[in-house]
Amino acid sequence: MDNMADKRHFSRETDSENIVWLCFDMADAGTNVLSPDVFTELDEQLQAIAAEQPRGLVILSGKSNGFIAGADIKSFTRVKTERQAQELLKTGQEVFNRLAALPFPTVALIHGFCLGGGTELALACRYRITRDDPGTRLGLPEVKLGIHPGWGGSARMVPLIGGIKAMDLILSGRSVDGRGARRMGLVDRVVPERHLRSAARKLVLDAPPPFRAGLIDRLSNSFVARPVLARILSKQVAKRASRQHYPAPYAMIDIWRKHANDQPGMLAAEARSLAHLVTGLTAQNLIRVFFLQEQLKALGKDKTYKPENIHVIGAGTMGGDIAAWCALRGFHVTLQDQSPERISPAVKRAHALFGRKLKLPIKVIAAMDRLLPDHKGYGVEKADIVIEAIFEDAEVKRSLYRDIEPRMKPGAMLATNTSSIPLEELCSALAQPERLVGLHFFNPVAMMQLVEVVKGHSTSDQIAAQAMTFTRQIDRLPLPVTSTPGFLVNRILMPYLMEAVELESEGVPAALIDRAATTFGMPMGPVELADTVGLDICLHVAEILAAHFGATIPPRLQQLVADGKLGKKSGHGFYTYQHGKAIKPKVSGKAWNMQEITDRMILRLLNETVSCLREQVVENGDLLDAGMIFGTGFAPFRGGPVHHLESQGSDKLLQQLHSLQKLRGDRFRPDPGWETLFTDQGE
Ligand code: NAI
Repeated sequence: MDNMADKRHFSRETDSENIVWLCFDMADAGTNVLSPDVFTELDEQLQAIAAEQPRGLVILSGKSNGFIAGADIKSFTRVKTERQAQELLKTGQEVFNRLAALPFPTVALIHGFCLGGGTELALACRYRITRDDPGTRLGLPEVKLGIHPGWGGSARMVPLIGGIKAMDLILSGRSVDGRGARRMGLVDRVVPERHLRSAARKLVLDAPPPFRAGLIDRLSNSFVARPVLARILSKQVAKRASRQHYPAPYAMIDIWRKHANDQPGMLAAEARSLAHLVTGLTAQNLIRVFFLQEQLKALGKDKTYKPENIHVIGAGTMGGDIAAWCALRGFHVTLQDQSPERISPAVKRAHALFGRKLKLPIKVIAAMDRLLPDHKGYGVEKADIVIEAIFEDAEVKRSLYRDIEPRMKPGAMLATNTSSIPLEELCSALAQPERLVGLHFFNPVAMMQLVEVVKGHSTSDQIAAQAMTFTRQIDRLPLPVTSTPGFLVNRILMPYLMEAVELESEGVPAALIDRAATTFGMPMGPVELADTVGLDICLHVAEILAAHFGATIPPRLQQLVADGKLGKKSGHGFYTYQHGKAIKPKVSGKAWNMQEITDRMILRLLNETVSCLREQVVENGDLLDAGMIFGTGFAPFRGGPVHHLESQGSDKLLQQLHSLQKLRGDRFRPDPGWETLFTDQGE
């Protein structure tokens, strides 16, 4: 073997059968990504290999976590002009073209993640082999960042597996495991770890004809089929994302429709279109969201903290689902409530969740074994973390704490899921108030990524740090917030919801209010959201916030709750529900000033945003944006409320608030933070 060809990111060996094994092990990084630097070195390697004229080339990864995670996203943020972006893309395309043109068999040997640029590199090889396990994932998730593949991902995948299958993967951004990829024709072999190298060697030596898509898949690329299919695809995409806010999938469909059978044309179109998208606002904001997510992930980094046993008290909507989620993530969980009957619905829901997520019966059984109903609360003594999710009543919570604290392990954490009670009102019941922290999960637990980690005045730094680490261990995103009423997310959301109720009380149809919000980019309109959360819960949180901040609550909300119309769960709220779906009458926006409807809701949200920033409920604007995006789905392509506010110009928004205050009253009174925090804006 010749080891002389090692460089910074790649090492190269030629074995006795004259097969070159090119191992990518990015220097100073835990994960392989494609940076300009990597491309330069890969290009040198490929030129050297081409000159050697080996029997074949196998490209593999030296990282245990995966093959290649994608492009180095940081390099996208440095791109300022379309021309720069085109250059970057052209370089990558040239390197992959060089790989694709090698005259001997080339194999990508894939384990773990193989995403974005990783899949594009693999597609430039003649064959692909993956390890046979669910953790090996292939995909082109670029649309999630507001872009589409640009290093030949679509230009190579489309002819390989056919337009429909390729578009499905690219437009959804979803990934598939080795077997799924094999069924599509995306990979040639799926083998257990121990056979990876021998399978690669055999493919090189046998050099069978490369995979060819079936007739129907090939026909989907024909010039007759494409216009029809493109229209169908666009309609499907429109159900999830508007062209105006998310242009990337539409651009991809156009490229495919125009160039499917012309690879050079498609490569050029990919680069042109991507250069345009990546420098646009949507992509820049979605890339920002990606980094915000990384920022939250980095908060829970105490590797020495290793809790094992979790005890959850309260098996209702939240406690039951929190317990299930912790068991799903591998913890031993005991679940307590006042009686066994109150626990059993939660166990049933847990079983359904495990089935959905784990699929294999043996794994489902193992997860069920980790979740023990425990109505007597024996688990308290063993628990490293006790999570309290009982009724939202300070005295009831305090009385529970008095009862359990003497039985808790020394050093164990007590976490409350309270959605509105400041920790200071609870910790008086504790001998060790420093162990109390808030872990505020959002409903539904299995879908909402954010957990607000609430640090009270007494919470110790260590417990707060451990709470963040634990949040990461259960694969949620921790957001550190201060212990103030409503914390961050509910506090900002509530004025927006209340304005929606005001609008509805004034006679604006609920469906129109919701449409205004979804057009702005919210995942669900505020009226439907209030109905989904439960109007009683909304009212309760609104009352607590009103008590602290002096806001008024629209009588319409109080009336609905008094009438027992609690929203989706009771079948009636602002909407009426049939089979769990809101009946939304068709309404036209023509008679209404839609812009004003949107402005009124969003300005109240932004005003509260400024208030939270001024009071430092979170440390900075980035964390605030992250909280609102991952806690409420706030229009991600706008980069979060603070980012949106800054890009709109605070002066302009402040003027609007002043006008609305004159017209509609003091709920629009601008927070003092508009003057103190944003004085330089727009100058
Ligand atoms: P829930 O009413 O569905 O469940 C509460 C459960 O606690 C009931 O099963 C009850 O029997 C049990 N419980 C009450 N006192 C108990 C005691 N002393 N010992 C053992 N069990 C007891 O309430 P939900 O909605 O799950 O709320 C629980 C907590 O989570 C509250 O603090 C709430 O503010 C908070 N929260 C609720 C959210 C929601 O959307 N429902 C969202 C985020 C937080």
